[in-house]
Parts: sequence; structure tokens; C-alpha cells
Amino acid sequence: MIKVGILGVGTVGTSVAKILKDNADVISARAGREIVVKSGVVKNLAKDRGLDIIITDNVDDVLDDSEIDIVVELMGGVEEPYAVVKKALQNGKAVVTANKALLAYHRYELQDLAKTQAFEYEAAVAGGIPIITALRDGLSANHIESMMGILNGTCNYMMTKMANEGVAYDAILKEAQELGYAEADPTFDVGGFDAAHKLLILASIAYGIDAKPEDILIEGIENVSSADVEFAKEFGYAIKLLGIAKKDGNEVELRVHACLISKDEMIAKIDGVMNGVSVVGDKVGETLYYGAGAGGDATASAVIANIIDIARAGKSSPMLGFDRPMEGKLTLKSTDKIESKYYLRINVTDKAGVLAKITKIFETNNISVETMIQKSTTDTTANLLISTHKAVEKDIQAMMSELEALDFVNSKPVMIRIV
Ligand code: HSE
Repeated sequence: MIKVGILGVGTVGTSVAKILKDNADVISARAGREIVVKSGVVKNLAKDRGLDIIITDNVDDVLDDSEIDIVVELMGGVEEPYAVVKKALQNGKAVVTANKALLAYHRYELQDLAKTQAFEYEAAVAGGIPIITALRDGLSANHIESMMGILNGTCNYMMTKMANEGVAYDAILKEAQELGYAEADPTFDVGGFDAAHKLLILASIAYGIDAKPEDILIEGIENVSSADVEFAKEFGYAIKLLGIAKKDGNEVELRVHACLISKDEMIAKIDGVMNGVSVVGDKVGETLYYGAGAGGDATASAVIANIIDIARAGKSSPMLGFDRPMEGKLTLKSTDKIESKYYLRINVTDKAGVLAKITKIFETNNISVETMIQKSTTDTTANLLISTHKAVEKDIQAMMSELEALDFVNSKPVMIRIV
């Protein structure tokens, strides 16, 4: 029999304990033995979780319990869970975590600490979708050429509702929070950080890249407005928050930001709270993974898959899937060098000569316009909605600063990259 201790018995932890009971028939058959939750750690002892397990508010009751084989970390945060899982490993426990922020900062130290002990984290990226197993094991014969993912259900839910129902940003965010999709601090969702944590984990498995969130381009969906949604519709695009990884020679580009993406792309059709990841391998071609990226039962499904794997084998694959450098030395591409097509929304005072001055600034920054429309916002102001041909990030950023400084530009111009 395998005994599990759960650190953080919230929505996901409760689902883990319940599913281990509800599906005990298939789980024990697949694991080759019975798996039971012995104890759980909570902050608030007074709240009844309706579970038949020992509940404590002291993590050491689990970490120092010699009967516990697997510690499941669902606490959230970074440094506190890091200290806790470190102690769990030192005490000889296998660890399963759903904590993407912990891994975004400490995955390499944890790999070193775990060595031959099991340390699994399927639920940390895209909830119930088995993307870690797919990438680490199923696609392990391939050089990974690119990955593109809808990795945050809250943002995807919000973008879908804005596009389909024209609901205002604040109202949808509130709804996503009430439905339990959003992080405790929703800026992690709408600011792109949650998706970036997940992208960094995938990039380590695919490329061995050791980057922190501070090292990569992270933008959220806060500036996307109904004017952009209308432009997107008119020109056949969806707007999505995407995590993008792309190999270019010995460099890898990693970025998270809102994107205009052709409605014909498969990933553009992933709507609502669902997540999706496209992975292109040099031998397999494009593969696509779709499913629930948030929610108690879906996330618990991935946590339990790891528990079963550990119960079966005692030790699963190396944590990040490799134990020597891959493909020589791949390095992170500098953000300045990223190339893309861009969409810009510039609110201007509507008077003679404005367009000429703006297009001159495009020219001096080496940016070529592909489409342009003007839509009045008041009697005296208008939005210029412009898409560009392929340009370099550094040039776009320089141009944006110049545009912002013009006296007839009424607010900071908004830029969305086109995939
Ligand atoms: N807040 C996350 C999301 C939950 O919206 O996708 C899963 O990590």
C-alpha cells in the first residue's frame, strides 16, 4: 500500500483525496497496489473538508511521518513550498507538485536535489492535459522546433467572451474569479505570469533552457479592448494570450503575450476556459493537445497520474527528462531580436497632417504598413488601426516611444503581435 500526504487541502487537494477513493478500482489496478491518503495539511483547521483523513496545520506532521511515501504539494507560493519539498526529498519521500511558480524559479535546484528520487509535476502545466508526459516521454525522439500554447484558462475565457459576446473586461474577470479559474492574485493570470511559468517549464524539457520569468518577454491582456476585438474580427483573426517557444539556430525565443492569430489555425479555435498546446517536432511534425487547464478534478487527474506512476515504478523519468546537456548549448534569444508582424492601435486627434507625420515615423523606423483603417472615437478623435509587415521588436519599441511622445497622440499606443 502507498500512503500519501497532501500539503494544501483546497479545491485540488480535496479532489485528489476524493478521486483516489471514487476511482480506487482502476487506480489500484493500474498502480499495482492500493493508494490511500493518510493525512492533509491545511491553514484553517475549523473548515470541514468532508474527508476521512487526518487533518493537521503542521507540515512536519506529514514530512516526518515515516509511513508517508508520497508528499503532494498544493500549497502555492514559491519559497515556502521550496523549503517544504526540499525537506520532503531529504526525508526520502517522493514528491508530486502542481506548483508552476515553484518550478519556474527552482526546477533545476529541485532536479539536483531529487537525483534518483521521484519528483513529478504533470499538473503544473495545462492542468489535466498530460503535456509534460507527452513532451518528456512521447516526443523524446525529436528536436522540438516550436511550441505554442494557450496556457491560462482565465485569459482564454476572458478573450473568448470579449470576442463572442462583447462583455466588458472587468465583468468577465469577476466572472472567471467566481468560477474558480483565476489565481488568488488575478494579475498572475491577466498579466501573463502564470502562462510564463508554464512556458518556462515546457522550455526546460524541450530545450534545456534555464531561464527565469524575469529573463523573458511577458505581457498580459490588460490593454486589449473592444476596438482590437473588432479589428481582429474584421481581418479574420482571434485574439489569444499565447506562450510561444521557437528554436532558431542555437537560440530559443520564449515569449508570452496577447496575439492576433488567424482564425484558421487550430489553436485559435480553442475557446473558453480550455487550454491547448501545439508542439512541433522535427520528426513527428505538429502535435496538438487540448483539455481542461484548471479546475479541481481535471488538475487532480494529473496529480494522481503522477502518484500512480510513482507507485508503479518507484522512480519515473528524470525530472526534466534529460541528465546531460541537449543539442550542444542552446541560449535564450534576446527580446530585441524577436521578429513578428504587429498590430497597432493609435488614438489621435483627427486633423490634417496627422497621418503623414505618423507614417513618416513608420518609415524612419524601417516599419512597413500592411493594412490601415481609421475609426472615429469622438467628433475630434479617431483610432488608427494598423497592421505591419514583418518587423523587428527593437524597431517597433523605438517607434512606439516616438509615437507616444507626439502631441496629437492622445494615449499610449497599444501593440499586439500577429502570429
Ligand atoms: N489560473 C490558472 C488558469 C489555473 O486560469 O489557467 C491553472 O493554472
